Amino acid sequence: MATIQMKVSPEDLSQVPRGRERVPDPVIMTIFGASGDLTKRKLLPALYHLQQNGLLPDKFQIVGVARRPLGDEFAADMRDGIIQFGGVDKSDPKLEDFIKKVSYFALNFDDPGHYAALNAELERISSEKGIGNHRLFYLATAPEFFTGIIENLGAQGMAQTDKGHIGVVIEKPFGHDLKSARELNQHVNSVFDERQVFRIDHYLGKETVQNILVFRFANGIFEPIWNRNYIDHVQITAAETIGVEGRGPFYEKAGALRDVVQNHVMELLSFVAMEPPPSFHAESVRREKLKVWQAIPSIPILNAVRGQYGPGIVEGKRVPGYREEERVDPESGTETFAAVRLEIENWRWAGVPFYLRAGKRLKKRATEISIQFKQPPLLIFNRMAATGPCEIQPNLLTIRIQPDEGIALRFGAKIPTTPDMAVCPVVMDFNYAAAFGRSTANGYERLLLDAMLGDQTLFAHRDGVETTWALYSPILEAWAAKNPEVFPNYFAGKWGPDCGDRLLEREGRAWRNNLGKPE
Ligand code: BG6
Repeated sequence: MATIQMKVSPEDLSQVPRGRERVPDPVIMTIFGASGDLTKRKLLPALYHLQQNGLLPDKFQIVGVARRPLGDEFAADMRDGIIQFGGVDKSDPKLEDFIKKVSYFALNFDDPGHYAALNAELERISSEKGIGNHRLFYLATAPEFFTGIIENLGAQGMAQTDKGHIGVVIEKPFGHDLKSARELNQHVNSVFDERQVFRIDHYLGKETVQNILVFRFANGIFEPIWNRNYIDHVQITAAETIGVEGRGPFYEKAGALRDVVQNHVMELLSFVAMEPPPSFHAESVRREKLKVWQAIPSIPILNAVRGQYGPGIVEGKRVPGYREEERVDPESGTETFAAVRLEIENWRWAGVPFYLRAGKRLKKRATEISIQFKQPPLLIFNRMAATGPCEIQPNLLTIRIQPDEGIALRFGAKIPTTPDMAVCPVVMDFNYAAAFGRSTANGYERLLLDAMLGDQTLFAHRDGVETTWALYSPILEAWAAKNPEVFPNYFAGKWGPDCGDRLLEREGRAWRNNLGKPE
């Protein structure tokens, strides 16, 4: 297989100007729901990576907030998380300094009196450390607490920007359907101005996702063919091998369509399908994404399928079915796999099907986008066309979001030494790790930094959230009204249910299941 050679050396890379990497003003980041997994596994390791790269202000404080009465053990737990999940050496001399900037405040989310005390605590830290009035509130709690927290912050005057920058970062899920998302948006905007709101979709923090825009718009050769004249169809897969990992009660109410398709997969789709924005400013990028989502006609229910895994073997290990997972209804109708076929009715994409799927306990962990180009006329090669691996195949561009991040292009080449023009598919492959080295970043670094800097480009706007919910709410309602007859309908460790395959087969196509490999 051909590989892409880097045109620059690591020394050249270190010379690249890092103009946008401004250091935020001194700030206190208050994390609500800080005793949950996200803080330890992702947020604190990401903040530490920022500190290692000199991207945090000297005056900085993290205040973990949760209901449990934790004291110093919180900071110790965060230290363990940074080591375990951040790839940091425990003897790293800067770690202790960083941990000194981590404190904890026990608070009952529903108790207004506790917010007055929290406010006083933030004021105290701020004057003791000379931090000023820049605050970022990070909502990493279960979604049912979002409204109460926002209301209480508002009531205490903690959202007011007259003294300094105040922002609120909201983790997903942002609503569970159109109605609830609208209500939540209204509620958030009654306290915070939209410019203060940072709705997180952690997929946008992934380098490979941001690179879709660079790949499309910083190269001259792809954009002219990036349309319905040349592209046959697009597939986006977000496949996981893990199950629900102890999150049964959450997942029971979510399911694959809500949990991953409506947000992460739709973000990927918007980057693949959007028009070039005039700049990378938040307004420009968000406007182009919104136009893509708005151009999607409602999805007929026959173009959406669902599945649920039964017991099976994943990566060589026997695993239970979804209904046997901890705190899951033994007769659950929640989908752990969802696939949809949609179209984008605009001049660039009309008539090009987009097939999206997401699922848990699938055969392989891989998030990938594949763009299949139309087959050119092959009459001149027909006599020699082979079948099997050497069959002439249409060009295929695959963007491997994770793992084994990279981009591959398949094209036909003449098989050497054959007297006739026999063609065989070959692949040009670009592999991130080989080109740039492995990174320990988890994607939250960029998002946290941008939120501190007030840059909303990689965050969801309320209009976008409501538009994607408007597309999926009718499907969710139809599914809720009718329990699936045959759940579970796929074995753990397979590529999902047969109905998922039929979505493409009925149009003479098939899912690309050779994921993770350039093909
Ligand atoms: C989260 C979902 O948003 O994304 C999880 O709630 C899912 O269920 C996760 O496992 C996938 O993220 P990643 O980065 O591992 O692809």
